[in-house]
Amino acid sequence: CVSAKRVTSDKSGSRILSESATTTSSATSTNDTSNNLSGAFKDTMHMRSSQASRSLLVRLANGTTIESLLQYCNSQGKVDNYFTYFQKAHYVVVEFSQADTIKQITSKAHSTESKTGKQRDGAQVESRFLSFSRPSKHKDTNVLKRKPDVVILNKDLSNLELLRSLASAPNVDAQIELLLQEQELRESEIRLRFLACSLMEEAFQSILPDATLHPFGSSINGFGRRSCDVDTYLDRGTAHGVIPLKQGRNKYKLGYDRQSANSERVATQSTLFTLAEFLEKHVPQCSSVNRILNARCPLVKFRHQATGLSCDLTGDNRIAIKSSEMLYIFGRLDPRVRPLVFMVRHWARLNGITNNNPGYWITNYPLTLLVIFFLQTRPEPVLPALNKIAMFEPSSEGMEEEEKDVDLVFTDEACIKVSRNKETPTELLQEFFHFCITFDFKKHALSIHLGSTYPVPNNGKIFPMYIENPLEPDLNSSKNVSGDLVDRLRRLSQEAVKTMERLDFYQADASRDALHSWGLGALLMGSVQGKGKVRSVAMEKKLGAMFRSLNRREFSTSCKRTCGVMHD
Ligand code: CTP
Ligand code: MG
Repeated sequence: CVSAKRVTSDKSGSRILSESATTTSSATSTNDTSNNLSGAFKDTMHMRSSQASRSLLVRLANGTTIESLLQYCNSQGKVDNYFTYFQKAHYVVVEFSQADTIKQITSKAHSTESKTGKQRDGAQVESRFLSFSRPSKHKDTNVLKRKPDVVILNKDLSNLELLRSLASAPNVDAQIELLLQEQELRESEIRLRFLACSLMEEAFQSILPDATLHPFGSSINGFGRRSCDVDTYLDRGTAHGVIPLKQGRNKYKLGYDRQSANSERVATQSTLFTLAEFLEKHVPQCSSVNRILNARCPLVKFRHQATGLSCDLTGDNRIAIKSSEMLYIFGRLDPRVRPLVFMVRHWARLNGITNNNPGYWITNYPLTLLVIFFLQTRPEPVLPALNKIAMFEPSSEGMEEEEKDVDLVFTDEACIKVSRNKETPTELLQEFFHFCITFDFKKHALSIHLGSTYPVPNNGKIFPMYIENPLEPDLNSSKNVSGDLVDRLRRLSQEAVKTMERLDFYQADASRDALHSWGLGALLMGSVQGKGKVRSVAMEKKLGAMFRSLNRREFSTSCKRTCGVMHD
């Protein structure tokens, strides 16, 4: 007997159909009970991490079936949920009620053989990523029953598929809402991101037992599309079971002897360098490891093959989880925020205004801040200024004064006034394009915190666009953006307004030939047809690779100089 709730697929990917969760709308949306937004975010993060820590990722090998795997799992303990997907092989994520069941199962797992047929060396990490196989003589009675569904996760709809879907909406407002539904992360994709992070954390703990790994960014802030990367940061000294040293009244203290680093930054670079080597050589399913350690925020990029996810690993970056919480909260304050942000992000991506590769493009984070600022500064604001809903307070009790973190504490949802702005999503979109045309980016810095502007700081640098990072107000989150890009944003916004002012823009037509003659099809199709492309994809890839290899070379040289222990 197989018993479990299934997270199954719908036409566009996969959705949870279990009895407990019925919504897919926000990256962290299920089971929120708290009426305090910040509490809801923390509860959901906790719930997701707990789900992940009770989950196994299993590759179906050797003609085995989901049914036989579930039978096996049910014989070991209670299964709460499961879902399947295809990523060059069939995988099943199985969530158990109790973490102990996992220990019981993994204690019985044997080491799989490497491609060469030899046993892997002892340094291989044994994790909750398993393969399920059967001896070739043993017949699986479930084999003929049903082949697993081919469910593809973490993949966006193609432009054409998206346009076809949008054409079926009755009007432009409905199209903007539909674009959100087509692009946002599905339930199983969120689970998979948390699981990838949890598997990685488990691997890192085998060499850094005090480390925890946290997801942040679009995987958790409610603005993630299906193909978005998994941003993670490493936190030291927080793992369960690591007992903090009590400082008694003793005259003497014992401490571990450590390699000393010149600065926190060098220490972070060194830790990330070590973890990159570890990922490359010892963690199963990790490939394309790129060390970008000279960036302002040093990071390691890699691909987790079994989930098909691109992952970013950074050092201690607690502030980023606060900015994720902030975006999550802004996304929930008004139902128009997320559809509008998804639409603007999509339009910007198609037009070469945003780009995944490092360069002079605006990235999704500052672009989202730009939309939030616009919504804060409507004549009748849609969103409040950050300082109306949150306060910076010192945190981390017991730490030395100079080491104290600053925490952003949000007020209760009940204290936040509902906006009186009645503009439709389409009106807001058009007004946003107007705003991009008329705003003097060279002169005014945008502050989400104040919900207003101030003169662009003049500290010897000229910034064509200045979007204050709300969590680190001294930093410009769009500091890499070039003047050309701002001109481009303005020009493309003018074209977008022209398209929206056309009489037939609002004339819905679901026929196949009319995909791009009205509504979002008309706005987006122009971009697809190529007028928005700045550089060819091949050229962008080449530039990205050059940038990364430069960073790696620079880092290796600087490490040799500073630490004297690194290898190229
Ligand atoms: N971040 C930041 N300042 C920047 C860029 C990023 O503080 N200039 C932080 C933000 O918290 C952001 C996170 O790093 O959410 C992840 O950045 P990134 O991956 O670039 O953006 P996402 O919001 O995750 O969007 P996506 O990955 O979908 O492009
Ligand atoms: Mg990201």
